[in-house]
Amino acid sequence: MTTQTAIDTNCITLTRFILNEQRKHPHATGELTMLMMGIQTAVKSISNAVRKAGIASLYGLAGSVNVQGEDVKKLDVLSNDLFINMLSSSYSTCLMVSEENKTVIEVDKERHGKYVVCFDPLDGSSNIDCLVSIGSIFGIYRKTSEGDPTEADVLQPGNQMVAGGYALYGSATMMVFSTGNGVNGFMLDPSIGEFVLTDPNMRIKEKGKIYSLNEGYANMWDPAVAEYVQNKKAQKAGARYIGSMVADVHRTIKYGGIFMYPATADSPKGKLRLLYECNPMSFVVEQAGGKASTGKMPILDIQPTEIHQRTPVILGSPADVQEMIDLYKKHNL
Ligand code: AHM
Ligand code: MG
Repeated sequence: MTTQTAIDTNCITLTRFILNEQRKHPHATGELTMLMMGIQTAVKSISNAVRKAGIASLYGLAGSVNVQGEDVKKLDVLSNDLFINMLSSSYSTCLMVSEENKTVIEVDKERHGKYVVCFDPLDGSSNIDCLVSIGSIFGIYRKTSEGDPTEADVLQPGNQMVAGGYALYGSATMMVFSTGNGVNGFMLDPSIGEFVLTDPNMRIKEKGKIYSLNEGYANMWDPAVAEYVQNKKAQKAGARYIGSMVADVHRTIKYGGIFMYPATADSPKGKLRLLYECNPMSFVVEQAGGKASTGKMPILDIQPTEIHQRTPVILGSPADVQEMIDLYKKHNL
């Protein structure tokens, strides 16, 4: 008996999806489409680098030299270069913030476009060398000021985001993003080198059975977090923590539950960064029907004051996040 693999000759690729979205806005200039194409190319290249990193000696310290005598770039340096170059050459962006760059990055004037982008090119750095899932995160805003772009253009609250999302380099590579109209997930089909729509209109469960945070910091938690985790244990909830925000949040969207990186006694603002980690991930979670909070206020309402500022983050199924917010109220925190 012969078996034949069915080929979907009419699959919805990410490119097709984005073009279709653009058609819904008759006055669209196509800049957002070009920007998303740039991100897509960066993500494909990073995925390729992640998959062959061991063989191509991409691990280790940046600055080492490969057999050809060329400088070997560490994966996170390579990923940052890819994001910066693909976005700059998309003619859609004027200003960028990257986790890897101390200051804002301005695109050459002749390539300026109307968007500003905040990104973490390769998140989950502690998981790179042991082959555990890592990801890229991005948030896109319109430039609001007149004239040359300034830092104020990237200091916008998350609720002003035009589009945001992430790429997950896991057992497969996925891109998940929202333009403010629900969330769609695309899996990279390596046989054709295209992202294909596999998870249309992703929705998060109202309540989940999994909690996710670094329990190694339990001695430094505030009483609200301590009580929450105690309750979860009493309910025999499942514990999962990968230590890569993208992977932990993606699981939370797919299976339901809660992910948090709360404030601790020695890091009162937590660890994760508002502009390019918490905001885009919160935007996607909320667009999927979830909730994202610091415990005291919605993440997306925070008015940023510095490009690398941190914030405590609690996100996931709306009922689970609400339980945590109620505990913050109960403990007057
Ligand atoms: P990174 O930007 O250095 O990769 O750090 C961010 C990562 C997140 O992906 C993850 O949620 C968190 O750090 C894990 O931190 P910890 O090891 O303290 O639990
Ligand atoms: Mg990071």
